[in-house]
Amino acid sequence: MTTDPASATSVAAVPSPAGPTDSSAPAAVAAPATGSSTGATVQFVGLRRTFGATTALDGLDLTVNPGELLALLGPSGCGKTTALRMLAGFETPDSGQVLVDGEDVTRIPAHRRDAGMVFQSYSLFPHLNARDNVAFGLKMRKTGKVERHRRADELLELVGLPTHGDRYPHQLSGGQQQRIALARALALQPRVLLLDEPLSALDAKVRLNLREEIRRLQQELGITTLFVTHDQEEALSMADRVAVMHAGRMEQCDTPAELYARPATAFVAEFVGTMNRIPGALTEGGRTVELLGQRLPVDGTTELRAEVDVLVRPENVLVTAGGGQGAVVTGTTFLGASTRLTVQLPDGTALKADLSTHDAAELPAGTGVTVSLPERPVLVDSRR
Ligand SMILES: Nc1ncnc2c1ncn2[C@@H]1O[C@H](COP(=O)(O)OP(=O)(O)O)[C@@H](O)[C@H]1O
Ligand SMILES: [Mg+2]
Repeated sequence: MTTDPASATSVAAVPSPAGPTDSSAPAAVAAPATGSSTGATVQFVGLRRTFGATTALDGLDLTVNPGELLALLGPSGCGKTTALRMLAGFETPDSGQVLVDGEDVTRIPAHRRDAGMVFQSYSLFPHLNARDNVAFGLKMRKTGKVERHRRADELLELVGLPTHGDRYPHQLSGGQQQRIALARALALQPRVLLLDEPLSALDAKVRLNLREEIRRLQQELGITTLFVTHDQEEALSMADRVAVMHAGRMEQCDTPAELYARPATAFVAEFVGTMNRIPGALTEGGRTVELLGQRLPVDGTTELRAEVDVLVRPENVLVTAGGGQGAVVTGTTFLGASTRLTVQLPDGTALKADLSTHDAAELPAGTGVTVSLPERPVLVDSRR
């Protein structure tokens, strides 16, 4: 492979109004103008980055497969933006490498990377109309006016705004501005698309529409995409795989279904979806756990001994009327097809249990109930 800056793995910055230091910046690492936009493989290898006393990335390892939409999910401050900025070229790791299609791009400076920026907050050039915003990167590349306008119109069509080319940003809604920003990021035929919380500033309905729109486009174009979000629903609904980050490290990277059903750590279990904690006691050297008058196998292995919390999803809590357990329904929340009960155990533990609304109708607040769990392996964590 060549190390020429114009090669597929080189990257150069497209200036943006907020500048490359904006921390909520999606970017596109672009292929050469002549290249195809088939997806690249991206690898983060042992990325470490500190800012003074803060460790932003603490040995991040992650591979994004060609054509995949991978969501980087985690709480604020866990290092998501820093990871994206490393790929865009705005940040250099203290150690570790960024590879694109196997080529080390870690030390390629930002100004030699083709990065189309989209921001969480709208970042279009206010003095340029939509068409010229989209064509901006092409102009920087000295693409002729006719060709870049043709290409910009093609992209406006792609993002569903074919008649909006002459409008200025202040004449566009937030959602439309983000579509234009997306078109701008795609104009240089990116092989990797980086989106940093691009929907956070939009209202709920627009956000849902754009979710689907981005996903459709991404699949149509086959672009490897890193999508940063702190919103688990956004991650689970859009991504092929979700990488959950915590304190500068990757906790688990899996399909949404796997992540939900088989969280690898207590952090993932509680960050993704709703989770109950029920006190239990480990038995048989940690192979089983006793709770609610049951003995259940422990999922995986644990170093813990004796007192633990068992992690259980609300839909896996079984509730039946009566029995001598001493649990009581203390509240109900109607959710449509299902109803969420709050149940208090004799020891004071409050649980959430999701039942079909039909079944829940038999268990109004005040009903004495018995809580049990299905005979399946359960996750345990240290007692809180
Ligand atoms: N340029 C910087 N200077 C100082 N601290 C920074 C800088 N960039 C990021 N950090 C810190 O590194 C941590 C990770 O930040 P960031 O990657 O932006 O997290 P996220 O995007 O997940 O919210 C945070 O504690 C943040 O304050
Ligand atoms: Mg961020």
